[in-house]
Amino acid sequence: MARAWIAGTGAYLPAKVLTNFDLEKMVDTSDEWITQRTGIRERHIAADDEAVSDLVIKASRPAMAMAGAVPQDIDAVIICTITPDNNFPSTACWVQKGLGLRAGIPAFDISAACSGFLYGLIVADSLIQTGGAKCVLLAGAEILSRITNWTDRNTCVLFGDGAGVTIVTPSPDPRRGLVASCWHADGNLGDLLVQPAGGSRLPASAETVAGRLHTIHMSGNEVFKHAVRAMAQAAETVLAEAQVSPADVKLFVPHQANIRILEATCQRTGIPLERTVLAIDRIGNVSAATIPIGLDMSNREGKISTGDAVLFDAFGGGFTWGAALMRW
Ligand code: ACO
Repeated sequence: MARAWIAGTGAYLPAKVLTNFDLEKMVDTSDEWITQRTGIRERHIAADDEAVSDLVIKASRPAMAMAGAVPQDIDAVIICTITPDNNFPSTACWVQKGLGLRAGIPAFDISAACSGFLYGLIVADSLIQTGGAKCVLLAGAEILSRITNWTDRNTCVLFGDGAGVTIVTPSPDPRRGLVASCWHADGNLGDLLVQPAGGSRLPASAETVAGRLHTIHMSGNEVFKHAVRAMAQAAETVLAEAQVSPADVKLFVPHQANIRILEATCQRTGIPLERTVLAIDRIGNVSAATIPIGLDMSNREGKISTGDAVLFDAFGGGFTWGAALMRW
């Protein structure tokens, strides 16, 4: 049975760049604090007239070109996001329309916060393995600036906007493709990282807007501790299943939330830091988009060759987490 493989990658980052120095003028913070505690120097911010589907459409064109795919070839659309254009229709349906994809193909969103792309990859792999699809447009995309409290220095320095797209097809050779994966969730910890209002529990009202309850609320320290433990465990589980040693990982593509989480994960697992995608300084935390954006950067820099072990690893709200190993 053919497994999922990535035939093309693409990314789009909005033109506007917000630096740490810009943030110094908005809240009581400093470039030094943000750089030392998070590794972030700047992040991209979507234009007022850009929605998440617009970002995905822009990132899709280079991904489809790399895969040699035309709109008629795409037979499923999966968009991983916590900042959809609307609650419904799904952002995937807007992308289907915007790219002129065939009417009638399945299109749906996945909500798994920063683990979204990883969840999407595992779902795409299932579709490929069962013959349900042969050419999946899989994206991680966010406009977190729309759900950020720009008066809260604890969170507003962390997030950014962007989109990363992959074209997922059956592997061209049985030795290539997704070799091992794991995905997990623990809803008991959901309150530690949450957008409290805007859903059926707390619909939008003048009070929820005034109380900034439509923005990200996070217990940073708690999230940090869980993230390091869970990301290291997930990576170790998948490496063991794939019988790949940490030293043999050619490219490690972890979710980019904090440089210290990445360093600690590498230290715990033995994966070399120099094989790790470190894009956080330029993009910040873009939730579901960081993995496909980081993957595209490395791919276009020529850092991945046929047969290389590429390890994905994520942790985010839910809590959700997991890892996946692909032979490129
Ligand atoms: N500038 C200056 N000082 C600040 C800032 C800031 N931007 N933010 C916090 N501080 C202060 C705090 O007020 C605190 O001051 P105090 O000691 O006087 O009370 C001090 O810095 C330390 O604060 P901590 O919260 O302990 O700082 P920490 O080192 O834990 O860093 C951070 C905070 C960056 C949020 C970190 O905890 C983190 O990265 N957590 C994980 C984030 C994450 O992984 N999110 C998951 C994905 S997000 C998603 O799913 C949408």
